[in-house]
Amino acid sequence: MAETITITDNRTGESIEIPLVDGTVDAKAWRDLLPGIWFDDPSFSATSGADSAITFLDGGAGLLRYRGYPIEQLAGSTSFLEVAHLLVRGELPNGPQLKAWKSEISEAAPIHENFHKRILEGFRDDAHAMGVLVSSIAAMSTFWPDSKNIEDPDQRRCEIVRLIAKMPTVAASAYRRSEGLPYVLPDPDLDYTSNFLAMMFKTGEAPYVVDPILHDAMDMLFVLHADHEQNCSTTTARVVGSAHADPYVTVSAAASALYGPRHGGANEAVLRMLTEIGEYGNVDAFMDGVKAGDQKLMGFGHRVYKNYDPRARIVKDTAHRVFDVTGTNPLLDIALKLEEVALADPYFIDRKLYPNVDFYSGLIYQSMGFPVEMFTVLFTIGRTPGWLAHWDEMLTQNSRIARPRQRYTGPADRDVPTIDER
Ligand code: ACO
Repeated sequence: MAETITITDNRTGESIEIPLVDGTVDAKAWRDLLPGIWFDDPSFSATSGADSAITFLDGGAGLLRYRGYPIEQLAGSTSFLEVAHLLVRGELPNGPQLKAWKSEISEAAPIHENFHKRILEGFRDDAHAMGVLVSSIAAMSTFWPDSKNIEDPDQRRCEIVRLIAKMPTVAASAYRRSEGLPYVLPDPDLDYTSNFLAMMFKTGEAPYVVDPILHDAMDMLFVLHADHEQNCSTTTARVVGSAHADPYVTVSAAASALYGPRHGGANEAVLRMLTEIGEYGNVDAFMDGVKAGDQKLMGFGHRVYKNYDPRARIVKDTAHRVFDVTGTNPLLDIALKLEEVALADPYFIDRKLYPNVDFYSGLIYQSMGFPVEMFTVLFTIGRTPGWLAHWDEMLTQNSRIARPRQRYTGPADRDVPTIDER
């Protein structure tokens, strides 16, 4: 059977046949045959924005794979740096490649002293950590003007290493600044995640010792957040990058999109929601409010998952392991009850609303000692290799600048009135 669709223009009676390729219709073929007819799709619900070989996602079946590898296999058997290598270099590293990759990253981890003094110290004491991070990433563009040379693959490779390496350093520094604590410099003898935790929580001169279960949980959470195909922030990275902006402002723009509570900011919003509900006994009344449209159940729902988010399942299992070390989080019972009520309620069943990656992650972060303002910062560290992999892929595809059309709904042609006529 032919893999095509036929469209009849009832204004003229003309029919055209357009090939279907991997479930998509080539917009160029459409445009050539039906000039001036645009798809009206402001939230890109039915628009493929990229050809990408990085992540496969089947939201109906609840499947997620990075470069073909199922997330369930990657989480727990590969470190975040291995997954970062998979995303930005195309394959998991072998032994010597991993050794070289680790040293490239740890050599690039420090940030310029002026960065602490002039950029970070400029913020208000109560500045939100995500606001500080977003601005700091953009400010890095001024430290590496060569990064504007985005058409040089070697330069891109260098900037990708810098951004992955420096993100934990900037993130931890943003936290310590807000707490009035002295900055901790990166330690080249520590692995990526231990180094981040040490830069966050080290006090005094004694070496920072991290519990292996908490280390592995943090590292795995970075793996789970590393990529998610054309989500809002990654699409932002591709759109901004398509204008040939440098990688720092591109990643800063992506992080800004992530900051929103409908996207990566949901992990913080979930914790605030659970705290506001406060007691197990308040869950039913809260859920009645959700169904009446008073508020959203944060950490639930997804544009593409119409099944349980596979990452949420792994996060939920991880939460139990973490709580064995830290003691249980009192908000866990409320979260479990919310999930139980939602999964049995026709409002959520009919709309195919399930927990997403953000529903349980905040409980883990809080139990590990992170303040809520840091939750989306943690997501940013994890997602950085994904954004950069898409940015690099887009630039190797000789892509054109992103520039959608619009449906104009404003006034028709009219004359400018004088000030007295207005
Ligand atoms: N609570 C209650 N109702 C919801 C929720 C929710 N969390 N999510 C969607 N719905 C309802 C909508 O109101 C809508 O109902 P209607 O058909 O009666 O109008 C229906 O479900 C369909 O929802 P859409 O608005 O079409 O979903 P959309 O794909 O546009 O939005 C989003 C997805 C933004 C994730 C949404 O589900 C939401 O706001 N969730 C809460 C925030 C959240 O957890 N975000 C994190 C997502 S994962 C990530 O980005 C890392």
